[in-house]
Amino acid sequence: MKLSVTGELRVPGDKSITHRALMLAAAAKGESRLAGLLSGADCQSTASALRALGCAVSPIPADGGELRIGSAGLEEWRAPAGWIDCGNSGTTARLLLGLLAGRPFSATLTGDASLRGRPMRRVSQPLAEMGARFHERGEADRLPLTIHGGVLRNHEHRSEMASAQVKSAMLLAGVSGAVPVRVHEPIQSRDHTERLLRSLGVELLQEASDGGWMVALNPSTETLPPLDLQVPGDFSSAAFFIALATLASAGDLCIRGAGVNPTRTGLLPVLGRMGANVAVTNLDEHGGEPTADLLVRPAALRAANVGAAEIPSLIDEVPVLAVMAARADGDTIITGAAELRLKESDRLYTIVRNLRAIGVDAEELPDGLAVRGTGRPLVGAVETRGDHRIAMAFGVLAALPENQIEIDDAAAAGVSFPGFWELLRRVVK
Ligand code: S3P
Repeated sequence: MKLSVTGELRVPGDKSITHRALMLAAAAKGESRLAGLLSGADCQSTASALRALGCAVSPIPADGGELRIGSAGLEEWRAPAGWIDCGNSGTTARLLLGLLAGRPFSATLTGDASLRGRPMRRVSQPLAEMGARFHERGEADRLPLTIHGGVLRNHEHRSEMASAQVKSAMLLAGVSGAVPVRVHEPIQSRDHTERLLRSLGVELLQEASDGGWMVALNPSTETLPPLDLQVPGDFSSAAFFIALATLASAGDLCIRGAGVNPTRTGLLPVLGRMGANVAVTNLDEHGGEPTADLLVRPAALRAANVGAAEIPSLIDEVPVLAVMAARADGDTIITGAAELRLKESDRLYTIVRNLRAIGVDAEELPDGLAVRGTGRPLVGAVETRGDHRIAMAFGVLAALPENQIEIDDAAAAGVSFPGFWELLRRVVK
């Protein structure tokens, strides 16, 4: 049985950029034009949160078509009538807390069971130091959480973790409260907020500092101008098709228009060390974000070691990297990735549990995992625990003809990649 993965495809719009574009369009004054937005469940959570705050946001077009958002600006945001449900989306909750910090009203954010299990003090603590007040309505450090926004003061925050959500919440609080903010992080995390703010004329400095990374925002008191943006394809979604075309035995796959922001593409050098055959061509730029076509051909993989310095730039790709490691020659060791325990599921546990369930030798480490590659047919049942990236990563292994893998909740993919399974069926021959 041979698997050929051939053809051309585009993946849906970048999830991180879509959240930010929707929020900034709602914060700007005037009519923004956004195209290529992701219509997945996470971004629907952001759109409905903005509606609850009084912004007129029409449904996100499922085909990537243009969405126009006419907004009267942040000053016109209103206290929501009820609790805001952020669904499964950590980015919605954490970035919105940043914007709400400078608004003179109260709002309560909640989410689904997974999101209610994820830490919020990493954001609420520094925002409280800026002057916002919080009331934890359930468990400590968790949603539901009420924020009482208001007048903010300047702040310099030293984040213990490289987290774009923490960094973005702080920068957005600076915009919302019109106060300067400085954020330090140990390693640079994704910089989409910085790029978008810069494209809107906000003064922002970023540089290596104290062995880590620093971003300083110096907002003006003027309202943000509207956005005109084409959102690139999501590299994190493209990663599943890179894996599929690499693990295939024949074919030639072209993924068009994928975002290749270097703070997101850490998977590529790792795959290079593993012997993968991925060419980055037709480099272009949209709204300050680099894009490219990715040409992928099958390759025999060898194991690799991945350490803390590389993790922020491939944080969401560890599930798909682990399934590729299951088909590589040798032992792949990933460390410095303790943050993965705080994602939509405890991903270190979920990856290892599921690899073992299908017959792969794998081991959880306190801050990472070890995977022993095998050429054996893989057979068994995968429990996604509602985690979209676990469903898709194991979906790649399930598509290989020698394997027999059942996935309990394939629909979980809809959080970030509506149409994933149809696209997969389309390119598999
Ligand atoms: C995101 C940042 C990352 C990432 C998440 C999206 C963002 O989370 O894992 O999927 O859009 O800012 P952390 O900031 O918690 O690392």
